Amino acid sequence: MPKVHVQTNINGTDMDFLCEARQSLLEVLRDVLGMTGTKEGCNDGNCGACTVILDGRIVDSCCVLGVEAQGRTITTIEGVASPEGLHPLQQAFLEEAALQCGICTPGFIVAAKSLLDREPDADEGRIRHWLAGNLCRCTGYDKIIRAVLSAEDIAAGRGDRSAASTGAGAGAADQRDVYND
Ligand code: FES
Ligand code: FES
Repeated sequence: MPKVHVQTNINGTDMDFLCEARQSLLEVLRDVLGMTGTKEGCNDGNCGACTVILDGRIVDSCCVLGVEAQGRTITTIEGVASPEGLHPLQQAFLEEAALQCGICTPGFIVAAKSLLDREPDADEGRIRHWLAGNLCRCTGYDKIIRAVLSAEDIAAGRGDRSAASTGAGAGAADQRDVYND
């Protein structure tokens, strides 16, 4: 099958790759570029395990074609940490033990990063609402929400207020953008 040459920017680095027109961005990341941090869960846009940031919007990379990355800017889980160390979200997920099997974790962290980049003091309700499109089959939602609250505190250099979190259950609506342009 003929391949398409795509030029893009991933995690701050200009990259080229060849892919088949039918391949999803998730397949390109994992199978063409060897960036296996982005996970495959449902492969049909329901679980958020494959979340990446595309031109500033969170998307399910299983529902985006690799060729649509042409000229775009992508952030994956591999681009979340800095040379100085872990991102506060990564640190907080470790400290709060906010993962079990870990398949959902990169998607949650990338989606939460997108929120905290916009709203560094998002409250618990807002976090639950934002992350409603990310599913954890191990059902560790409360620890995940506590970790995001803790990450806000780490980033702001203040004491951990996540222990005060008492709510349960996911929010009602998914903030994920529908990618259809
Ligand atoms: S693998 Fe993409 S949404 Fe589930
Ligand atoms: S930790 Fe297993 S799916 Fe979330």
